[in-house]
Amino acid sequence: MSEPKIGVWICDCAGMISNHLDTRRIEESAHKLPHVCLVKRTAKLCGREDLEKLEQEIKSSGIDRLLFAGCSPRSSLKFPEEQLTLLMRHAGMDKAFFEVANLREQCAWLHDDVEAATLKGIDLVRMAHACLRSVEPPPAPARIVPKALVIGGGAAGLQAARSLATAGQKVTLVERGTYLGGRLCQIGFLFQCESWPAYCRSECVGPVQAMDAVLNPGIELLMQSEVLAIAKMNGNFQVRIKKGAAFVDPEKCISCKKCAEVCPEEVKSDFEMGLAVRRAIDKDFERAVPDVYTIIDEVCTRCGKCLPVCPTAAVNLDARPHIIEDTFGALFLATGFEQYDLGREREFASEQPDVLTGLEFERVMDRGMLRPSDGESPGRIVFVMCAGSRATLERVGQGVPYCSKTCCAATVKQAERVLARSPETEVIVVYHDDIRTYERAFESFYTHLRGLGVEFVNGDVKGVEAAEGGGLKVRIGLKQPEPPVLGNCGIADKSITLDTDLLVLAAAQTPRKTTSPLLQQLGVPVDRYGYPIENQVRLLRPTETLIDRVFAVGAAVGPKIVQQSVEQGSAAAMKALPVLMSGSKETGRFASVISSAGCTRCHTCMTVCPHGAIRMTEQGALSDPAFCQACGFCAAACPTHAAQLVNFTDRQILDQACVAFDHLPPGEPKILALLCYWCSYSGGDLAGVKGMKAPPNFRSIRIRCSSSVNSGLVMEMFRMGIDGVLIAGCPEKNCHHAWGNYLSDRRVTLMRNLFSELGFSPKRLRFEYIGVPQSQKFVSTIVQMDKDLRGLGPNPVPAAGRS
Ligand code: FES
Repeated sequence: MSEPKIGVWICDCAGMISNHLDTRRIEESAHKLPHVCLVKRTAKLCGREDLEKLEQEIKSSGIDRLLFAGCSPRSSLKFPEEQLTLLMRHAGMDKAFFEVANLREQCAWLHDDVEAATLKGIDLVRMAHACLRSVEPPPAPARIVPKALVIGGGAAGLQAARSLATAGQKVTLVERGTYLGGRLCQIGFLFQCESWPAYCRSECVGPVQAMDAVLNPGIELLMQSEVLAIAKMNGNFQVRIKKGAAFVDPEKCISCKKCAEVCPEEVKSDFEMGLAVRRAIDKDFERAVPDVYTIIDEVCTRCGKCLPVCPTAAVNLDARPHIIEDTFGALFLATGFEQYDLGREREFASEQPDVLTGLEFERVMDRGMLRPSDGESPGRIVFVMCAGSRATLERVGQGVPYCSKTCCAATVKQAERVLARSPETEVIVVYHDDIRTYERAFESFYTHLRGLGVEFVNGDVKGVEAAEGGGLKVRIGLKQPEPPVLGNCGIADKSITLDTDLLVLAAAQTPRKTTSPLLQQLGVPVDRYGYPIENQVRLLRPTETLIDRVFAVGAAVGPKIVQQSVEQGSAAAMKALPVLMSGSKETGRFASVISSAGCTRCHTCMTVCPHGAIRMTEQGALSDPAFCQACGFCAAACPTHAAQLVNFTDRQILDQACVAFDHLPPGEPKILALLCYWCSYSGGDLAGVKGMKAPPNFRSIRIRCSSSVNSGLVMEMFRMGIDGVLIAGCPEKNCHHAWGNYLSDRRVTLMRNLFSELGFSPKRLRFEYIGVPQSQKFVSTIVQMDKDLRGLGPNPVPAAGRS
């Protein structure tokens, strides 16, 4: 390998740096560093003209590595690392071959003492130089199969598939059911949108969305099919799909209904929520798309009665499901939701035929709004919000603690539809704490409903029982101070008993159970309810899970209304398009590499990796650079140090630590701050930006996630003579890699305990959660450490090692 040729650019930042420290001396010092063949000090670097000049200088200089000493790569608004890597790309250099010495935010602006800041500046350049010397090119870009798999043909999945196919991408859409559109089709009346307080019929808009997918040649549609297995392989997803048997040829079926008319087998219809039946060969509803009759395999007895009546010979009872294996570059989980099983809560008596969930009531409304028990029109309907949602220990109807978001608006809509259709029906709405019709249009429905004289009762259901002679008695524990003025209502002891013909429970939304195995196979971290955790930063990466190119959209990732599901489908497609269209995925500057020679197949790296990037092979653990997000968990956890991050190796960190305090005056405590790439480093930067002041005897290294630092590395730092080490990570619940800050916190706690046992002051090692706005905490931590270390005196470890 040829010798590195390093070019150093030192920016005065038009006095913003050079007024606070002596950049001339930093320049002189840089000249003396090995492999440095060019040093330039410049008044400023960040305007368009300056950047163009810099690009030309880089091109003509013949250097192959760039050291930029100036503003922070993380927090500069004019010249952040994204700008720097873009510039390098234009200049024909590999983006990995740069380092930044942060002379401005964490040096010039943070220290009053010009001399101390200058000496620190010299050290910062030496640290960047030490790291840059051993930089390597990152792994080659991975080849990505330009084809997407969408699992679930509801509103979100359809939208994702349509958006991708419209942009020219190949899409396979797998749907378990017999029709497209999912829950949307079961809801008769849909809200229009936030700004338009009106309804439209799902039988109108549903087919429009679904037909678009059916007719799009870019979409391969697999109906009555399911994904059996998914494995990540060489940057892509290998998938086994069970394709449902093609009993009815969609090319031949003309939806004449003759087959269903002769079919003797009946089964409860999933579409009708079990409140009506369909035939073994049937269409679930008139406007179902694809426009084809389907056979429910488990119900069909193969009696053959449908064969002779079919005018186009479309039926083939010998058809069998078959297995498809294919590879995809991106996955979309659009598997929708289930309603919380209210049968688990005795108080709701959901076994009673006239106790319905919100979705069941949608089907009842569409079928004539008759009581399921006797087919009579209901005179009174009681709606209950938050059934199975917002549960607390004190509350009857435990369910899930979160708000299901859609229930209040859906209930208001249903109540309004009831009165529009049958103004004489008495409607009572029982709500838990409050009513959250949070969109503008929904609020107008609510206001309208109040104007219609609907009674709203604040309380919780305490019990339901069948009334003698029909109907239900619903006991409500009142939360409002005054009892409501209602007919047919007994009042006793802070509770009322309502007689009603129908009880409609706005059941909570929960994840589909069938999604869980897929998430497990993909290694997608999920929250306590089973929903996939969305990637940080949520503002920048909505719809993305922690696994690269696995998108979760619609109700699969949490309760949603239809409009939001559609929006998410489009958004996720937009996110996936660049990589699908390019057919390759660039790896970043950093990526995990696991040496097969050192790997003992202990699986620790696989267990800690939050991005599912590591798999076990016969040769040992293998990190897939196309999935690796360079958190460094594996490198820190690997007991044999077989896992390392390219361009962030233990050696590179120690090389920086080794020269970090070369110019610190003797006797000053050496504080090394290992600041996580995102929040904590920026927290340190903003201390300078805000004009705060910190002791100049600390140096920081911008590490990956705070959990990328292993304990052996910290021990080595103390052995080298560093007096105090601060590891700082993102605030609680904000680590960009899910839980790295907690791992780091725990690791440091264990080390501190060990230090106490060994008689080494635990004050020398700290972990802190430091977010971007917590610059004051950053400064106070450094100040406190400085004070503690002065009190403790020099680190005794190096001296002990010499004796
Ligand atoms: Fe900041 Fe994990 S990324 S602690």
